[in-house]
Amino acid sequence: MDSDDRKRKIIVSPSVLSADFLRIGEALGEIKASGADWVHLDVMDGSFVPQITFGAKFIRDIRPASDLFFDAHLMTEHPENFIQQFSDAGCDALTIHAEAVRHLDSVLRKIKLTGMKAGVSICPATPVDSIKHVLGIVDIVLVMSVNPGFGGQSFIPYTLEKIQELASLRGNRKYMISVDGGINDETIQSVRDAGVDIVVTGSSFFGASDKAAFVKRMSL
Ligand code: DX5
Ligand code: ZN
Repeated sequence: MDSDDRKRKIIVSPSVLSADFLRIGEALGEIKASGADWVHLDVMDGSFVPQITFGAKFIRDIRPASDLFFDAHLMTEHPENFIQQFSDAGCDALTIHAEAVRHLDSVLRKIKLTGMKAGVSICPATPVDSIKHVLGIVDIVLVMSVNPGFGGQSFIPYTLEKIQELASLRGNRKYMISVDGGINDETIQSVRDAGVDIVVTGSSFFGASDKAAFVKRMSL
């Protein structure tokens, strides 16, 4: 790691998937107090992934409880049907899965038209090559480092190659590289070295007794 890399601050995006939904307001307060930058919102439909979490109404209802950047991650089939409702709910970025849409270019452009940042996510086994033509359109590329659907899984090491590939492909393009799944004190160094800009963290964040110290370790 050179001195420039050391100065680069990583955005930390705690996922409320690991929060107690009975006390979601407190969880949002803990995220803010920890010094984290973003709030990651995992929307699951029980079809693209096996679990069902929450939808746009939940996000709209919690929106007034936080002034942080709302980073929504749609793990749903037909994400093109939900763009306007997540924009109206107050999401700042909407990330969809490349595997879930037939017309990826069109859906990403529709997200951008709402004013939200547009993200594309790829599951562990999906190659970077499959999204190379939309890298000039997107604001965020979310590399799944676990198979989507559940928090608390172990980081899949080969996904580091995809982060490195995205970092070296970037050139003049502006996309940020995010990584989601199994991020903790053991894995942060490898994703930082590979070139990520954003780390999503669910179980490790909510399991940390000193959340501010944890966020600092993830971001430096
Ligand atoms: C998994 C979700 C993740 C999850 C990460 O499908 O997209 O955002 O909350 O959880 P951890 O950090 O526990 O792997
Ligand atoms: Zn996620």
